Amino acid sequence: MQTVQVIGLGYIGLPTAALLATKGFSVIGVDTQANVVDNLNNGKIHLHEPGLDILLKSALGSGNFLATTSPRCADIHIICVPTPFKNNHEPDLSYIQSAISSLAPILNNSDLVILESTSPVGTTLKVRSWLLELRPELNNVQFAYCPERVIPGKTVLELIENDRVIGGITTEATTRAADFYKCFVEGEVLLTTAKTAELCKLAENAYRDINIAYANELSMVCDQFGINPYELIKLTNHHPRVNILQPGPGVGGHCIAIDPWFIIDAAPKLTPLLQAGRTVNNKKPEWVVNKIKASAQLFDQPTILCLGLSYKANIDDLRESPALSIAKQLTTLNIGDIIACEPHINTCDTLKLFDLKAGLEQANIIVILVNHDAFTHINWPALSNAGKQILDFTGITTNFSAAQNTRSPAFDHEGLK
Ligand SMILES: NC(=O)c1ccc[n+]([C@@H]2O[C@H](COP(=O)([O-])OP(=O)(O)OC[C@H]3O[C@@H](n4cnc5c(N)ncnc54)[C@H](O)[C@@H]3O)[C@@H](O)[C@H]2O)c1
Repeated sequence: MQTVQVIGLGYIGLPTAALLATKGFSVIGVDTQANVVDNLNNGKIHLHEPGLDILLKSALGSGNFLATTSPRCADIHIICVPTPFKNNHEPDLSYIQSAISSLAPILNNSDLVILESTSPVGTTLKVRSWLLELRPELNNVQFAYCPERVIPGKTVLELIENDRVIGGITTEATTRAADFYKCFVEGEVLLTTAKTAELCKLAENAYRDINIAYANELSMVCDQFGINPYELIKLTNHHPRVNILQPGPGVGGHCIAIDPWFIIDAAPKLTPLLQAGRTVNNKKPEWVVNKIKASAQLFDQPTILCLGLSYKANIDDLRESPALSIAKQLTTLNIGDIIACEPHINTCDTLKLFDLKAGLEQANIIVILVNHDAFTHINWPALSNAGKQILDFTGITTNFSAAQNTRSPAFDHEGLK
């Protein structure tokens, strides 16, 4: 039985480690947070991901999974630690560097190290050089890069079903890594070089960022013309070669809002388009706040309900969330009483959280910031008829009105359609 060690037990590492244990590998999961490790060994997960609790229980039940705070010997080591950027948008590789430093004492020359963290081009080679600085004799350790493409909310399924791109520093590394992924991936396993695989991941998210920036720009143009942007995009996408993504209150999370910077940082003079995309998406929350401010002026100290705080639908992840930053900003403007409903979290330091029913009852203005499934069955026309102003920055009311064969109530209001 091969032993696989997964470094970093977060949104990517934990599902990967648990899945591998259920597929017959002996798995060591390493995380620097001792409380996370203790909880996992007791079957408790620290993040919201459908199916993950069951997968972890099954991994523990198989006897193949153990979480720990320091690395042990293994055949394959997968690095899944964060790769944020610094204040100047320069990639912060310190977590990767510390991961390879912690692995250095226990690595053997026959081991394979796979980097899954989203990384700038050339990082896999750097990881190898960091190791060789510490242990020059380990010049036979193989290194490969394999980016992760799962979508939060469907991670467990997509870990198995998605196609994977794998690039080793050597052909041997590529082949060994590919053989390993073929043990549990049902999608295609596509082979390339480490540098190409690194850029592939960044190019995918940069593409989405630019496409969303276009949708966000269009939504503001639509607003000027009094056109519903969601209806417009739906119609344009009936063109056989057009596929515009959905506008929203901004772009958040730790992937799409960050990864384009890894290309921009490396090639600033060659990336005006990527930079423009980032600017448009970063400015959208400010535009949203101004729309809410304008609506609030129609009331005397209104109660403003922010529906959704996470960075995207159906998850609890607040990292880089435009919805959260908009809600927080509203609390500083003295335009009314700001309350929020986020079904996926229980507490929030800076905002008054309400359950959905109570929040909808109290609100004069309902600001839809995230299109959670929990909001899809709300009767928007009834709320609108009750005199509540609905500002939809997600398109959820458009879908509702199409299903009900009525016009979107938000469309008939001032403010965003
Ligand atoms: N979350 C996603 O949907 C997603 C999708 C694709 C790619 N990625 C990429 O995957 C990587 C991991 O992302 P994530 O969302 O799982 O991050 P995360 O913050 O959820 O988890 C990272 C974990 O690594 C641990 N950690 C940090 N340094 C460590 C070290 N030296 N040794 C051991 N553990 C350490 C942290 O305590 C944390 O639990 C990032 O590069 C991210 O960009 C994430």
